Amino acid sequence: MVHPYADAEVHGSSAVDIASLIAGVEQDVEAISALLPRYGRLIPRYTSYPPATRFNAQVNAAKEAEWLRALPGGEALSLYFHVPFCDELCSFCACNTAVVRRVESRLAYGELLLDEVDRVHGLTGAEHPITHLHWGGGTPTSLPMAAMRRVMERIRERFPLADDAEISIELDPRHLPEDVPPQLHEMGFNRVSFGVQDLEEDVQEACGRRQTEELTAECIRAVRAAGIQAINIDLIYGLPRQTAESVARTAARVAAWQPERLAVFGYAHVPWKQKRQRLIDESTLPQVRERLVQRQTIDAVLKRDGYQVVGLDHYVLPSDSMAEAVRQGTLRRNFQGYTVDKAKVLVGMGASAISSYPQGLTQNAPSAAMYKNAMKARPQSRPVLHGLERVGDDSVRARVIDKLMCLLEVDLDEEAPGHAFPELDRQIGQYVDDGLLVLGPGSQGGGNRHLKVTELGRAFVRNIASLFDEYLPAPGSAPAHSSAL
Ligand SMILES: C[S@@+](CC[C@H](N)C(=O)[O-])C[C@H]1O[C@@H](n2cnc3c(N)ncnc32)[C@H](O)[C@@H]1O
Ligand code: SF4
Repeated sequence: MVHPYADAEVHGSSAVDIASLIAGVEQDVEAISALLPRYGRLIPRYTSYPPATRFNAQVNAAKEAEWLRALPGGEALSLYFHVPFCDELCSFCACNTAVVRRVESRLAYGELLLDEVDRVHGLTGAEHPITHLHWGGGTPTSLPMAAMRRVMERIRERFPLADDAEISIELDPRHLPEDVPPQLHEMGFNRVSFGVQDLEEDVQEACGRRQTEELTAECIRAVRAAGIQAINIDLIYGLPRQTAESVARTAARVAAWQPERLAVFGYAHVPWKQKRQRLIDESTLPQVRERLVQRQTIDAVLKRDGYQVVGLDHYVLPSDSMAEAVRQGTLRRNFQGYTVDKAKVLVGMGASAISSYPQGLTQNAPSAAMYKNAMKARPQSRPVLHGLERVGDDSVRARVIDKLMCLLEVDLDEEAPGHAFPELDRQIGQYVDDGLLVLGPGSQGGGNRHLKVTELGRAFVRNIASLFDEYLPAPGSAPAHSSAL
């Protein structure tokens, strides 16, 4: 069935509407700007705690094998497959990806993934239902379809796939041949995520990514017609040549397609890490205040058009499973961002993939070449490069940080019963005085044990979460993280 909104016209977003929306966000922008000198420091994104900057070589494949073998029978698993290839590169992109022209090399990568599924199965046994499965990258469909099909079949041969599993994949609309959506549906995919970033031609040109609005609309139509009804779209603010007006137009046009979820990221300009970003003309990058106006403008447009804000940077239709996860208090955060995945164990396969266990985290060898070497060098073992083990009260802090990042509130009586956070008591007053947090009694009556992030505080939720981060480097030390906004 074609989605009822597939042909919807762009909602009423005349120049007058847009001007009044932008005027409406001015007050919020002023309030956030005033706090930037105090809170604008570099902070982790808290897709894990402790953060990935703590990875070390003491946690290796042997340690991870212990964790996998120790899984209780029947424990659900979430699987992630990383494909570090793209069909075409974009100058703005910070991901570690490459175009691999030789089909033999891409097929060989698919074979390694098959092998890795077998190795995981060898360590866990078969009795673990897969409740969540995601392919990311790069662009996973740059693998030949036959290779992806073989991996999906192998997963089903080795593990039971839960009937209600979310099975999702990231797609590049510029490279989606028309026979692919029906094949993805056949393989069991029920959610896709499209990179869009911005719909305006001059912004696209400045970012090195040409993708017409018609092309994206056609891809959405094709995916829905193939029977995959859940659509995610990525947008970015802070890109070269973007203005508040231009991002408002993009947000309104994208909202008219009614994707179930939208992720709205701030552009990370890191040319010292990602050389292709040197193609970006820095004089066309919006400055801090302009970025803030853009962020708040997109927020206002998406809320106006029926989206519910989730956490730091997601917008969802109230009917989407992520809105339900917020209502139920079960939303979580992992290396792919916000997720409805409830499994306690996420096993990442492929180059650079990160796995998460109650005991700690591991990461596979980072590049395709190193991944291949690690797979060949140790034939029975997982290609783990490094990781971290949770120690002391890491798990308690991880739970508290997760609740704050996902639900913007936490009851310390519930998540950290009997646990004191002396460093928190020293700093929290400032956050309350600045209007970022409201304190109340915890569910067991503990004074000031309930923390609720205010609407103003949402922009600084990473700072608030960092109050519980024992490993946060002192202000002014070498930057390992990105700026809070
Ligand atoms: C793996 S890609 C998405 C799928 C597919 N490769 C595509 O581009 O359509 C991951 C997403 O990361 C985000 N991203 C990449 N580079 C970024 C940057 N420098 N700053 C912020 N977000 C970025 C983009 O929104 C992009 O859609
Ligand atoms: S945005 Fe997507 S297609 Fe472009 S380089 Fe990054 S991962 Fe590849």
